[in-house]
Amino acid sequence: MSDGGATAAPTAEELSRAAIARVDPSNQLGDVLALPEHLRDALWRVESAIMQDWDTTAGLVVAGMGGSAIGGALARAAMGDHASRPIFVTRAYGLPPWTTPDTMVLCASYSGETEETLACYESAGALGAKRTVVTTGGRLAEMARADGVPVIPLPGGFQPRAAVAYMIVAALEVAALCGAGPRLTSEIDVAASHIEQLVAEWGPDAPEDSLAKELARGLNGTTPVVAGAGLTSPIAYRWKTQINENAKQPCFSNELPELDHNEISGWEGAASIGRFSAVFLDDSDAHPRVKERMDLTERLIAGNAAASYRLETRGQTAIERVISLVLLGDLVSIYLAALRGVDPGPVHLIDELKAALAQR
Ligand code: F6R
Repeated sequence: MSDGGATAAPTAEELSRAAIARVDPSNQLGDVLALPEHLRDALWRVESAIMQDWDTTAGLVVAGMGGSAIGGALARAAMGDHASRPIFVTRAYGLPPWTTPDTMVLCASYSGETEETLACYESAGALGAKRTVVTTGGRLAEMARADGVPVIPLPGGFQPRAAVAYMIVAALEVAALCGAGPRLTSEIDVAASHIEQLVAEWGPDAPEDSLAKELARGLNGTTPVVAGAGLTSPIAYRWKTQINENAKQPCFSNELPELDHNEISGWEGAASIGRFSAVFLDDSDAHPRVKERMDLTERLIAGNAAASYRLETRGQTAIERVISLVLLGDLVSIYLAALRGVDPGPVHLIDELKAALAQR
């Protein structure tokens, strides 16, 4: 971890459970800390919901939005080179044009009420594609039950984005069941135990100078720009969306090597516009040239970044490495909310937008 250029103003505020609880009445922190249990519970739920294997030679499409879609993207990253068929994530009103009856479409919506996902469910039916649904209920569950489509039932009471572990496991297991990749059930189980150690290392009971707390302090008062590459690309996006929704502040993400061909130039003027910080998400298995690029990019932008951090995934298996940095980002987003004095739970503008759209 390095601190480049002018340092971000750290606050002296404590990030203990009690201090966070003061701004977090719905206990979003508790949902993040429960990530290992969610992984195990998700395995059990998929197993009890789905009895059959399908062979869909055209691969898997995960259709969802926001906190429900990210599980598909993270699952695809965790599957990595072991994917034997296309795994595609669609965040839109429609399915890719190559969807056929030989495609599995996993419709993921925590609420079961997201209009884009409902539209994809219907398109998949019209195309004769195989369908599976992962949800807590809503219209999506109703339609699936009426159509005899398998439903992976999720526990209620979370913010959709807090159900990320459930969405990752559902996508991984459905990918395996439809022949798009190997079954990773035991790796997920082992990952859950190892992630428990990271919960202790980065959680609220850890010392005030733990990595997660220091990061939150360093990012506070800045607009973070998070960069991933390969396996960490969807994690960078998860950091962005969690910082947006939990800490209620702008945050952006991008990926290497692409950002070295455009975004890097923007940093030339960053310090004259505001306080931007850079976060690079590295992985032990990243392409060696990508690692070189991270070094050089960090060095070249340092003078214009309010702070700069290089973080590495933890763990052996890809699933463990993916979840390690998802956990770190989720914790950082809650700590940032606490430092900013905002309630991480409600997402008023998302709700307001959905309500206004429903009137049209
Ligand atoms: C809210 C959140 C959102 C939702 C999205 C789709 O916590 O993360 O991004 O996930 O608006 O809603 P669902 O997940 O209910 O389909």
